[in-house]
Amino acid sequence: MNRRFDPSGRLRGAVTPPADKSISHRAALLGAMSDEPVTIRNYLEADDTRSTLEAMRALGAGVDEREGELVVRGVGLHEVQSATNNLLNVGNSGTLLRLLPGWLAGQPGGLWTLDGDASIRRRPVDRVAVPLRAMGARIKARDDRLVPLTVQGTALSGVEHELDISSAQVKSCLMLAGLLAEGTTKITEPHQSRDHTERILAGARIPIERDGTAVTVNAVDELEIAEITVPGDPSSAAFLVAAALLVSGSRITVRDMGTNWTRTGFLRIAERMGGVILADLEEPGTVTDHEPAGDVDVAAAPLEGTVVEAEEVPLAIDELPLVALLGAFAEGETVVRGAQELRYKETDRIATTVSGLRSLGVNIEATDDGFVVYGRGEVDGGRIDAHGDHRMAMLGAVAGLASNRGVEVVGMEAADVSYPGFEADLGALLD
Ligand code: S3P
Repeated sequence: MNRRFDPSGRLRGAVTPPADKSISHRAALLGAMSDEPVTIRNYLEADDTRSTLEAMRALGAGVDEREGELVVRGVGLHEVQSATNNLLNVGNSGTLLRLLPGWLAGQPGGLWTLDGDASIRRRPVDRVAVPLRAMGARIKARDDRLVPLTVQGTALSGVEHELDISSAQVKSCLMLAGLLAEGTTKITEPHQSRDHTERILAGARIPIERDGTAVTVNAVDELEIAEITVPGDPSSAAFLVAAALLVSGSRITVRDMGTNWTRTGFLRIAERMGGVILADLEEPGTVTDHEPAGDVDVAAAPLEGTVVEAEEVPLAIDELPLVALLGAFAEGETVVRGAQELRYKETDRIATTVSGLRSLGVNIEATDDGFVVYGRGEVDGGRIDAHGDHRMAMLGAVAGLASNRGVEVVGMEAADVSYPGFEADLGALLD
């Protein structure tokens, strides 16, 4: 589906972003691992999180969908059931693909194969397979690094694992395995990544230890989570924030957005570039057991280039293509470094960001671990292909509103993966 986004007048008004995708995946998965039913409020209704509910059902969990909430009746930590033909379809979801093997690997007697769509078939799973094998897991993957991924459940033992590249997905996978493994499991990242799994487990009184970028878990007999309320997704909201920053005269309020500091790197970067952002964001370094949420006011302002270093990358990982877009409209150079992880997202987001923005007339160069944008204060427009990547589709739309000639997005339907109401929400701000 192709869609045109023409240069627009200013954005005004308030918008509530869709529920957080990362937290929704974890809520459903940890709900399925629980012994007692878990009520989840504001679960994200989108393609990715539907894949997780289907997978949980296939593993024996009950999922009752009610108005505004879900109740997941879990199978308990150790009682996962066999799926039909042992096959689990993760759709387009990298988070489900990486987290689920952590739970399945520690279920002696079980056998499952995880597979997904064409994009999932290109995404590496060795990053979870290798450390899980060090815990004793039996895992096979195509060419040892791609799906289909087959997990044969067995008894696990705890390990100390240091990640070369920060990844909340890998960290969470190993934490789930650690809940089942004998002994202690300690995972250390070079830089802090999103900590939603840690917060849900801490909220459920599971004794996890957090020390800087290290997290330690031990085996538990059972998991009891009473309820989880999912805040608005800062990564989805970021597209609306970017539109408001770039279309002159705009001023919007984003309501009930998650303000967990491990997710608000983009807002801090945008503010540093000169964007006007008023919000009560969580203090960097906060360790807590709940997810804060609040309103964010945004207003358009002239932007300047900035440098994003490796430490900031995990805090804004999904928003880095938007940093490139802000960089195109800024004066001066915008540099992102230490973000090689972008190459393993729904698309190679260094390649798709660079080729996509170039097709709109932006002067941008790829580097091994990021990009350099030479800002001109404006973007001509043109045609951008989403390549099936939800975030590239939404980036194209935002670029169009702020461009000189408009942008045609090829494959706009990809937005449904995380933000099915994106066009409607954007449209409402333009009225
Ligand atoms: C996610 C973590 C990030 C992010 C992805 C969702 C999560 O991946 O890019 O969209 O829910 O844990 P990595 O932590 O692997 O970089």
